[in-house]
Amino acid sequence: GYYDGQFRDINEKVIPIDERGHQFGDGVYEFIRVYKGTPLALSQHLDRLERSAKALLIELPFSRTDLEKIIEEGIQKSTLEEADIYMQVTRGISPRNHLFPDTKAELSMTIRHPRQMPDEAYEKGISTLLLEDERWANCYIKSLNLLPNILAKQAAASKGCKEAILVKDGYITEGSSSNVFVIKDQILYTTPATKQILCGITRTNVLACAKEEGIQVREQHMTIDFIKQADEAFVTSTSIGILPIARIDEQHLSSTRPIIDKLTNAYQIFREQQ
Ligand code: PDD
Repeated sequence: GYYDGQFRDINEKVIPIDERGHQFGDGVYEFIRVYKGTPLALSQHLDRLERSAKALLIELPFSRTDLEKIIEEGIQKSTLEEADIYMQVTRGISPRNHLFPDTKAELSMTIRHPRQMPDEAYEKGISTLLLEDERWANCYIKSLNLLPNILAKQAAASKGCKEAILVKDGYITEGSSSNVFVIKDQILYTTPATKQILCGITRTNVLACAKEEGIQVREQHMTIDFIKQADEAFVTSTSIGILPIARIDEQHLSSTRPIIDKLTNAYQIFREQQ
């Protein structure tokens, strides 16, 4: 773990009562996966961290080079070859007041063994639950405020589903912690990267792989009927990569997934080339 300029034991209690991250959720985060000692797509993650912080008028407490050094040092100290990195930047520590404090932003980081989906989930696909998207208008910011996301994930889990697919005004936005893709008549569809969704790094890289594979891509809003009639569907994120969907509410999808198989191979090769 890392907090207040120092590497620490991950279980050390270090967050002061007046830290705005836990008082207001006043901060941003990134979640990065390390493969063979190297963080995947690090520059894309740091770009997004900068964009998120800028959108909330938080000035990052470290330069890009210093951030890279801290991450590198953290990976070395962890001695992990495969790891999950969680980083967050909050507006810092100051007596509770809604107004922005003058204090410096605060970086914290944890590096731990990766949490992985069982192989079975990739073979069989997951069950998903459609739920109303109750989030705010700026979901493109990777902010600490995840209450609607965790409520949706928990509601899905309580019905035996691994992911909630969020629906706003009749259209799919994204998963509670993933982006959603549909394949219909050989064309790959995903929700356009508007302010209503988090533009996933995996989403971006899977779209690039699809184009390289000659798969036609359309960033287009998708209705509930459209996803339920999909030939194939999947979700993506840093932690899960490409994860096939087997069921949406009561609707089962085909268990043959030629395009997902092709994309999974292409994405694996992309990862190994990093
Ligand atoms: N979540 N959409 C939402 C709402 C997310 O929380 C995430 C990632 C994604 C996928 O983004 P990416 O491909 O950059 O990981 C989409 C991370 C993994 C998390 O909250 O732990």
